[in-house]
Amino acid sequence: MAHSCSLLPLPFILVLALIPFSCIPSAQSATDDGSSVHESLLQCLQNNTTPQEQISKLLYPQTSASYASVLRAYIRNARFNTSSTPKPAVIITPTKASHVQATVICAKKVGYQLKTRSGGHDYDGLSYISDQPFLILDMFNLKSVQVDIKDESAWVEAGATLGEVYYNIWQRSKVHGFPAGVCPTVGVGGHLSGGGYGNMLRKYGLSVDNVVDAQIVDVNGKLLDRKSMGEDLFWAIRGGGGGSFAVIISYKIKLVPVPETVTVFRVERFVEEDGTDVAYKWQLVAPKTSNDLFMRMLLQPVTSKATKKKTVRVSVLALYLGNADSLVALLGKEFPEMGLKKENCMEMSWIQSVLWWANFDNGTSPDALLDRNPDSADFLKRKSDYVQNPISKDGLQWIWQKLIEVGKPGLVFNAYGGRMDEIPASDTPFPHRAGNLYKMQYSVSWDEPGAEAEKNYLNQIRRLYSYMTPFVSKNPRSAFLNYRDVDIGVMEPGKDSYEQGRVYGSKYFNANFDRLVKVKTAVDPENFFRNEQSIPTLPNGKAGMTSHTRCSRYTRAIVKTPVPHPFPPTNPVYEPLQPHEEGVPPAGDGKAYEAKL
Ligand SMILES: Cc1cc2nc3c(=O)[nH]c(=O)nc-3n(C[C@H](O)[C@H](O)[C@H](O)COP(=O)(O)OP(=O)(O)OC[C@H]3O[C@@H](n4cnc5c(N)ncnc54)[C@H](O)[C@@H]3O)c2cc1C
Ligand SMILES: *[C@@H]1O[C@H](CO)[C@@H](O)[C@H](O)[C@H]1NC(C)=O
Ligand SMILES: *[C@@H]1O[C@H](CO)[C@@H](O)[C@H](O)[C@H]1NC(C)=O
Ligand SMILES: *[C@@H]1O[C@H](CO)[C@@H](O)[C@H](O)[C@H]1NC(C)=O
Repeated sequence: MAHSCSLLPLPFILVLALIPFSCIPSAQSATDDGSSVHESLLQCLQNNTTPQEQISKLLYPQTSASYASVLRAYIRNARFNTSSTPKPAVIITPTKASHVQATVICAKKVGYQLKTRSGGHDYDGLSYISDQPFLILDMFNLKSVQVDIKDESAWVEAGATLGEVYYNIWQRSKVHGFPAGVCPTVGVGGHLSGGGYGNMLRKYGLSVDNVVDAQIVDVNGKLLDRKSMGEDLFWAIRGGGGGSFAVIISYKIKLVPVPETVTVFRVERFVEEDGTDVAYKWQLVAPKTSNDLFMRMLLQPVTSKATKKKTVRVSVLALYLGNADSLVALLGKEFPEMGLKKENCMEMSWIQSVLWWANFDNGTSPDALLDRNPDSADFLKRKSDYVQNPISKDGLQWIWQKLIEVGKPGLVFNAYGGRMDEIPASDTPFPHRAGNLYKMQYSVSWDEPGAEAEKNYLNQIRRLYSYMTPFVSKNPRSAFLNYRDVDIGVMEPGKDSYEQGRVYGSKYFNANFDRLVKVKTAVDPENFFRNEQSIPTLPNGKAGMTSHTRCSRYTRAIVKTPVPHPFPPTNPVYEPLQPHEEGVPPAGDGKAYEAKL
């Protein structure tokens, strides 16, 4: 049952066992283990819930024997699983919406930051680490998926995983599905609030293009639905990031039709073969072909078994909402360079294709989608870019050299077009619609612990990102919120600055950023829901200032010793990106590229 959510499989070496075991709260134990805030929080929560709710059982302070395992269960990046990673004072694990309401009220009262975690897949760990004293609101118990086939819809709770969503739909119908991500352990709460895309986006758009209602808890602890929150806030929580606006309890999603038989394939070429021709043509075909076809292309530096030399492998993976014969005919006409044959194709049910995309072995039962696979993660870093003009063959060849030179990171091209081109850029906060041929993901995963390895691989992926500058979107250089990347800008700890927020906000949201700021200012003027890349309030709102003073007075009254949270602890998470002089194509070529396109 080997399975991995990584796009670029790791060589399977178990060095994790070498990490010295360290007591989780050690970063704080010298000063304060958070027991005073735990006490105040518990009192407040008890005041705001009924005795029957036994709220104390849902809290994990640092002194709890289960604290480390609860914290680690949904850490999905081993970089943030070290003794020096900042830890929450208390983890709150609600089983009902009313617990969430009480938590919001009481987190404000004790003056601690509240981080909401659903599936924990944030690439930079923003749902479970912070630069300020904080609490985690951990949604893993709120995971119901209620499918209504007659209405072709479902209510899905934030703590459900995508695998659980797909499984529950499949149990009720073999001809319905939902367009969302390919990794089954990703959480609904972060995925949908951040946009959510998967291998049906050319047919049905993003996950958020198929969200019709939601239940949230706002900053005042009120439980709201689409009608009571209003269209502006409902717009914002469909791609603007949940962490800036509210706690998402659940979304109502519209199911989409899928055929009884779909087809998948994976075709690989090396660049010494005709890999460059295939990669070039992919850019012309994948964003323009039938909406029923999604093709992802992976570009990975590898060592050739035959020559022992480093080279680049081009792999194309596809999902086609139809049978193999019509797919072979379609690509025979549009993409003869790939030479797709029927033997390369596998016909299967949609749910089997979900398992195939998640790298499960052939014939694995759909039950595997229910495995949450807790407390397991690689060390990883991801970055993103958008490409609006095809890269020339010369450009690709230059990129192959750079991939080989840099070492480990690979690139994943995800075709857009189709339905994505039809939806206006302002329909949801996610702006990367018509005009974008594909999204690029930069991907590096490693299994050696320690600061040296981390520094090396972060440096590699940042160099590659720098090299790609001539080929990707500019002004702003756009990025995908769900591919969280703190390199593109962060809010300084304790600040609520429009100017700082605009640095990353304009990249994630382009022209939609200002509307998000307006919604944010209206619904959370004191900036309670915040993180290192959240939406700031309006500069002249100023509402934040007084409340901050008030909050810190609370903090001083309740927490005797302020808890120091060094962030980043030892690793340069926010080290500014150094421009690389070599990061441009050979002299004169940059212009030539533009001209050739
Ligand atoms: C292995 C892997 C594969 C991935 N594949 C895809 C993919 O195919 N397509 C894609 O679009 N993305 C993909 N992603 C990115 C993923 O969609 C985002 O990381 C997403 O935010 C994860 O949601 P989560 O609930 O698991 O994360 P979390 O880490 O729990 O949360 C992410 C962010 O959302 C906030 N948040 C979480 N829950 C709530 C809530 N209930 N209310 C308010 N705010 C909340 C958090 O505070 C944090 O800011 C992948 C990530 C990984 C690690
Ligand atoms: C809880 O309620 C009691 C009685 O109303 C009050 O005295 C106390 O201050 C409250 N505590 C908190 C933390 O809200
Ligand atoms: C965290 O580290 C421990 C060892 O200290 C390991 O057992 C566990 O699997 C790791 N979890 C993750 C999510 O990396
Ligand atoms: C998986 O199944 C397909 C079709 O049923 C078959 O062609 C293929 O060889 C199988 N692959 C493996 C690794 O078993």
